[in-house]
Amino acid sequence: MSDFSHIEYPISIPYQLRVYFTKHAFDVSNPLFRDLACSRESGNRRKVLFYVDEAVSQATPGLVDQIAAYFDNYSEELRLMGVETLHGGESLKNDETCLDRIYGDIENRKICRHSYIVAIGGGALLDTVGFAAATAHRGIRHFRFPTTTLGQADAGVGVKNGVNFNRKKNFVGAFAPPFAVINDFSFLETLPEVHLRNGYIEAIKVALIRDAKFFDWIEANAEGLNRFEPAAMQEIIHRCAEHHVAHIATSGDPFEMGSVRPLDFGHWAAHKLEQLSEFVLSHGEAVAIGIAIDTLYSEKMGYLDEGCSNRILSLLKQLNFETYSDQLERRNGSGYPYVLEGLEEFREHLGGLLTITLLKKIGARFEVHEMDTNVVLKSINRLKEFA
Ligand SMILES: NC(=O)c1ccc[n+]([C@@H]2O[C@H](COP(=O)([O-])OP(=O)(O)OC[C@H]3O[C@@H](n4cnc5c(N)ncnc54)[C@H](O)[C@@H]3O)[C@@H](O)[C@H]2O)c1
Ligand SMILES: [Zn+2]
Repeated sequence: MSDFSHIEYPISIPYQLRVYFTKHAFDVSNPLFRDLACSRESGNRRKVLFYVDEAVSQATPGLVDQIAAYFDNYSEELRLMGVETLHGGESLKNDETCLDRIYGDIENRKICRHSYIVAIGGGALLDTVGFAAATAHRGIRHFRFPTTTLGQADAGVGVKNGVNFNRKKNFVGAFAPPFAVINDFSFLETLPEVHLRNGYIEAIKVALIRDAKFFDWIEANAEGLNRFEPAAMQEIIHRCAEHHVAHIATSGDPFEMGSVRPLDFGHWAAHKLEQLSEFVLSHGEAVAIGIAIDTLYSEKMGYLDEGCSNRILSLLKQLNFETYSDQLERRNGSGYPYVLEGLEEFREHLGGLLTITLLKKIGARFEVHEMDTNVVLKSINRLKEFA
């Protein structure tokens, strides 16, 4: 006979993952933000604290005044508690002092669990501010306004937040769905080309694992995408965001309790490359190389036919993504390629069994639990020849 008793109740918490698409969100004639912020039970004026990516506020000098004017216009319902700027980019996620600063602001401005924190910026700023919001007072509702293509298509529309620790990507983080995401396309007008392009790679990724027709569409629209035509960019962002949200909501594992991570296709090598390059390689640039490696690996192992593999590599080239970096050649003191350490770090981060997503067709993925490192190195060598 067992000598324990136990009490058990299921707890289910319904979340709505909501992504809106608009332009000029802080024009007083655009009520979207106000309507969302005031959509909960009526009561006191909502306190709102903003964090803006420094590059965004520099590129859009009137933004802070515009936010202030917006709050003046809706002053009966909304109360502006400050607009703070933070330097954006990966260095923010590596900066161990930035969380203290945000927690200090939350304490000093008396932001409570009924207030909102709004993050406006690239994926790195959204990850950092989202993590602070998820942990201060055990969770404050937050809005995300992604201002990069990668943020609007991928990083900003999911449920994860996180910062780096000891330069390891996303070592500290939380699952905390945002209250709402507002993809304001007008922010993209000031984004440098390299970051405009970066979002495309996550769209190629999601097309490869879920949707062959979307891959065809990207191929057919590559010229417009290369010219950063707004209509093509808005469509790729919309379709990519839709896939991400649908995957999170319907895969049965929104908070990643298992080990299967299809949205991380190509990411085991990418995260390691970002770290090896001291974050000179951006996330998007590193993911392009990671996708190229796992595509060639899928081909060399006989899972994916050569025609599909060539199509994928050609599209990366057509969209001007590099598929090789010297970082791939670096070796540790024992002569072992550093990049392969990314496999073990990926396993450790997922927990449990190593699980890598590979391709059997464009639009069809499957998972493996081990990688033949010799074949990985051969794939990397082939990329070097291409380069
Ligand atoms: N949480 C998630 O689920 C998730 C998913 C994918 C990626 N990510 C993370 O997202 C980060 C990458 O995000 P990113 O590609 O947006 O890069 P980023 O946040 O590093 O931004 C790129 C650069 O552009 C600047 N910038 C941002 N918006 C601008 C604008 N509108 N005008 C001018 N400059 C602007 C930023 O200051 C930064 O210097 C990585 O840290 C990655 O790990 C998170
Ligand atoms: Zn990514």
